[in-house]
Amino acid sequence: MSRTREEVIDELTLALLYLTRFNDSEGSPFNEMAWKNYDFDAIDRLDKEDLIIDPKRRRDGAYKYAYLTEKGREKARKLLEKYDVEDYPLYERFDFRTVKPEEAEAVAKIEQICFPPNEACTPERIKERIDVASDLFLVAIDRENDGKIAGFLNGIATDEYAFRDEFFTDAGLHKDYGKNVMILGLDVLPEYRKQGLGRELVYNYCRKEQARGRKRLVLTCLQNKVKMYTKFGFIDRGEADSTWGGEKWHEMDITLNI
Ligand SMILES: CC(C)(COP(=O)(O)OP(=O)(O)OC[C@H]1O[C@@H](n2cnc3c(N)ncnc32)[C@H](O)[C@@H]1OP(=O)(O)O)[C@@H](O)C(=O)NCCC(=O)NCCS
Repeated sequence: MSRTREEVIDELTLALLYLTRFNDSEGSPFNEMAWKNYDFDAIDRLDKEDLIIDPKRRRDGAYKYAYLTEKGREKARKLLEKYDVEDYPLYERFDFRTVKPEEAEAVAKIEQICFPPNEACTPERIKERIDVASDLFLVAIDRENDGKIAGFLNGIATDEYAFRDEFFTDAGLHKDYGKNVMILGLDVLPEYRKQGLGRELVYNYCRKEQARGRKRLVLTCLQNKVKMYTKFGFIDRGEADSTWGGEKWHEMDITLNI
């Protein structure tokens, strides 16, 4: 049965929302937008003979914010496949999903590569976290390299507000329906860095937890990472109540739901 005109418009709009998503720091709970009403750059690329532009309409007045949920993104990616359109390269190459129990060892190895011994989480603790909160343990899988794990982001949920070092050492503090998520580690293997994978792990995590109704993500980081997390939409709350690894830490957080 052929589809109606409206159905096709809906499909193409969803695909357009997905294709034109970009990063922006205004007006969004985290620094990623799916769409800002129209992608004017795309409109500017169209053949002028095919467009009538209403000169009375101001561009800045026309902006509206919109995001795609994970479900919407999934749907959009399927549409792109259907229309044989290339996706954002990171999504072509990497699959973002929750960790599997049998991946605990591989993940622990990545942690040892990414962090110095005084900061790295031990393999036993990684396993404990996966046992109690695997759905808060997101991995990026390299489809082009036999399903190798390229990076991950993990945390545990709690109703507590501030970060404390016991979250690193006691996965038993995890509460499935906790309001907030304490982020315990963001790791990207050296050969996969500087391609946007860390950022995509964070955004992916934010979207999932926002959809689940979590209020905040909280993390601690060294001074030299404050700028990076600020770019992701986190706010620096100053010096943290943490002495992990004998270092000085900043507490940072991002609001997902008010
Ligand atoms: C930090 C880390 C996760 C970044 O991963 P990545 O995939 O290279 O990050 P991205 O490519 O998504 O970079 C996103 C942004 O952060 C910035 N950034 C990345 N690594 C950074 C670093 N080490 N210091 C400061 N800024 C950094 C990038 O410049 C980029 O900004 P831009 O888009 O304006 O250029 C990765 O280097 C890593 O695993 N390091 C060791 C473990 C670690 O320090 N984890 C964080 C602990 S709090």
